Amino acid sequence: MTEEISEYLSLKPGNIVVDCTVGAGGHSINILKQIAPAGRLIGIDQDEEILELARRRLKGYEKNCKLVYGNFKDIDTILGQLNIKEIDAVLYDLGVSSFQLDSSERGFSFLRDGPLDMRMDKNGQLSAFDLVNNLPKEEISRIIFKYGEERYSRRIASLIVEKRKEHFISSTKALADIVSGALPRGRRREKIHPATRTFQAFRIAVNNELEALQISLNKAVGLLRGGSRICVLSFQSLEDRIVKNKFRDLARESILKVLTKKPLRSGPQERKENPRSRSAKLRAAEKIG
Ligand SMILES: C[S@@+](CC[C@H](N)C(=O)[O-])C[C@H]1O[C@@H](n2cnc3c(N)ncnc32)[C@H](O)[C@@H]1O
Repeated sequence: MTEEISEYLSLKPGNIVVDCTVGAGGHSINILKQIAPAGRLIGIDQDEEILELARRRLKGYEKNCKLVYGNFKDIDTILGQLNIKEIDAVLYDLGVSSFQLDSSERGFSFLRDGPLDMRMDKNGQLSAFDLVNNLPKEEISRIIFKYGEERYSRRIASLIVEKRKEHFISSTKALADIVSGALPRGRRREKIHPATRTFQAFRIAVNNELEALQISLNKAVGLLRGGSRICVLSFQSLEDRIVKNKFRDLARESILKVLTKKPLRSGPQERKENPRSRSAKLRAAEKIG
């Protein structure tokens, strides 16, 4: 949805833009092309490793680009340290990157065996290992239900607690096998992998994703200049709901004008080329004033 994002951000040369989830720099490079030669891009990511990839990808734009290791929930402090008081656009491309998913040692994927980690920020205090092996059964069940919208959360939590009595659950494969074992046969035949929802749930909990998004959206809108735009690309319903409700509330307060009545979805060609885009939803809004 690169083109749609470009269209909605409506950038001009000289703009100051924040990419809150710079990742490997895919969207940032397009932004830089539009705001060059005088514009500035501030690219934030909480994954130090991925920032290295962005640095390489954005080579040649060093003068226009500042990459910051940090959490987007601290966008106000990050910009304050750079002496930036107002911005012309802000973008969020939420969730994990394919680089993180494909690195088995980061422990995000049930398709690759690796340590049960799931921290986007390697300096983060708690990993999925800590949650799975230490939390009480009720808390595990709550996480799986709330963040994974998994109806069999209690069964999965019970089996996790039973299995961890034997030994620590320390790999992605071990967790995926437990989840599969806890589900009824019919569910195991569904199109999505049986562990999808549970892995999503632990990832959200480990990285405190929903809270960070709530906090950051408020701050980002506060930093936007009147007439400038915010775009959010989300990949699961919990995030999208937060964005939808936040935009609606701010529109009622006459702070934002929502530009996407319904979220934009990827087209058939993009879905074919990039399966991850199937669940993508793009919402955009403009600051009033
Ligand atoms: C889907 S990827 C972004 C991909 C990027 N737009 C690109 O084109 O390469 C999401 C990125 O956001 C980062 N991220 C997620 N939550 C974050 C947060 N709260 N603060 C900072 N970075 C975050 C992840 O580490 C990941 O690199």
